[in-house]
Amino acid sequence: MEKVGFIFDLDGVIVDTAKYHYLAWRKLANELGFEFTKEQNELFKGVSRKKCLEILLDIGNFTATQNQFDKWMVEKNVDYLAYIEKMNSSEILPDVVRVLKYLKNKNIPIALGSASKNARPILEKVDLLLYFDSIVDGNSVTKAKPDPEVFLIAANNLGVAPNSCVVFEDAVAGIQAANKAKMLSIAIGDAEILNEADYNFNDFTEMNDDFLESLINK
Ligand code: G6P
Ligand code: MG
Repeated sequence: MEKVGFIFDLDGVIVDTAKYHYLAWRKLANELGFEFTKEQNELFKGVSRKKCLEILLDIGNFTATQNQFDKWMVEKNVDYLAYIEKMNSSEILPDVVRVLKYLKNKNIPIALGSASKNARPILEKVDLLLYFDSIVDGNSVTKAKPDPEVFLIAANNLGVAPNSCVVFEDAVAGIQAANKAKMLSIAIGDAEILNEADYNFNDFTEMNDDFLESLINK
């Protein structure tokens, strides 16, 4: 049997931090004098901080000097970190721990593959660091999703061939990255939006042990 590896995205898969990203981006938008809606926040899922600010400024029809841009990047992150500071394990999404435990009990290598530069402190806050054999985050990549780089580095760190890896993702860009990496892509979220995935689930409560077992023995 070939060795398999599992790669989890963080935001929207393990924890619902999208709401905190939204509040921090909305505060900045409001300070600059325009609105930023929850619908617009959908565009930010899986997208790097820098790219998010570019989109936000586009929405507000703003052009920024490099100095302003850098300042707003820092400002948004300071606000975001204030929300993260208060996080604890009650914010882990349903059945994530069951799935992690199931894989860990079978000695399956597990990696994190996230665009976030705050991934490690968040995993620490919610007490999940111990499950991950490798953490590949926004600090370790040069190309953002949908580029497959983040997942290919994770596979390499786990010592597993890319086509033997399974990826859990909630963002279109993340599903595309997994597909480009020739990994099995499993969408967590809206099946209509995430229609490029190999499998779709609304959340981990819908994924039973038999399905997990079928992925391990694929
Ligand atoms: C994740 C989120 C994005 C966020 C990105 C960078 O991919 O889905 O919304 O912009 O991480 O997060 P960071 O914590 O580095 O600002
Ligand atoms: Mg995500």
